[in-house]
Amino acid sequence: MEFYEVINARKSIKSFKSDPVDNTKLERIVHATMMSPSWKNNTSYKLVMIDDLQEKKSLAETVRNRGASAASAVVTAPVVAVMVGDPNLSGNMDDKDFYLVDSAIAMEHLILAATAEGYGTCWIGALDEDRVRGVLGIPETYRVVAMTPIGVTLEKEAHLPEKDKKDYIFHNRWDSPYQH
Ligand SMILES: Cc1cc2nc3c(=O)[nH]c(=O)nc-3n(C[C@H](O)[C@H](O)[C@H](O)COP(=O)(O)O)c2cc1C
Repeated sequence: MEFYEVINARKSIKSFKSDPVDNTKLERIVHATMMSPSWKNNTSYKLVMIDDLQEKKSLAETVRNRGASAASAVVTAPVVAVMVGDPNLSGNMDDKDFYLVDSAIAMEHLILAATAEGYGTCWIGALDEDRVRGVLGIPETYRVVAMTPIGVTLEKEAHLPEKDKKDYIFHNRWDSPYQH
């Protein structure tokens, strides 16, 4: 898939087929994740890849608002990726924690690569961090940033429409409309 096709194809997916994710494609998705930039190249994240049904069921219990489709997506999708950050490894400047940035970029690399391979994903940030730590055995010094199911989508809807640029993109100066 061409880059802008990937950008336009990505959307949050919460309904999946149970078909397995191809191993070669999964390898490329992991490779794309690891190609992401990070503060001082410290790679302050760890990625836990889960394909065990019981583990996925336990993870679904950690999703806040469990009635929501995000929780069932974690069970139905064949693979779930959990992004974990290490605040001690990344930088903090002016009270900004860059481990969140490192993890977010890595996660987006993963998500775009999964899209390019034909799979759906969904950022899930609303989770009970302590319970995820408990399920996966993650030490307390690490922060659980997000998880995403990865799998063959059952959804056909188009991406949400692009928002109005004037509210988000400025030209030369704050609040000055970007026009090109
Ligand atoms: C940091 C972050 C956290 C998110 N957490 C959740 C979540 O906990 N549950 C959920 O259903 N969607 C979650 N989403 C998905 C957003 O709701 C979704 O990206 C947004 O509605 C735009 O839709 P789109 O991804 O289809 O473009 C999250 C997205 C981001 C970027």
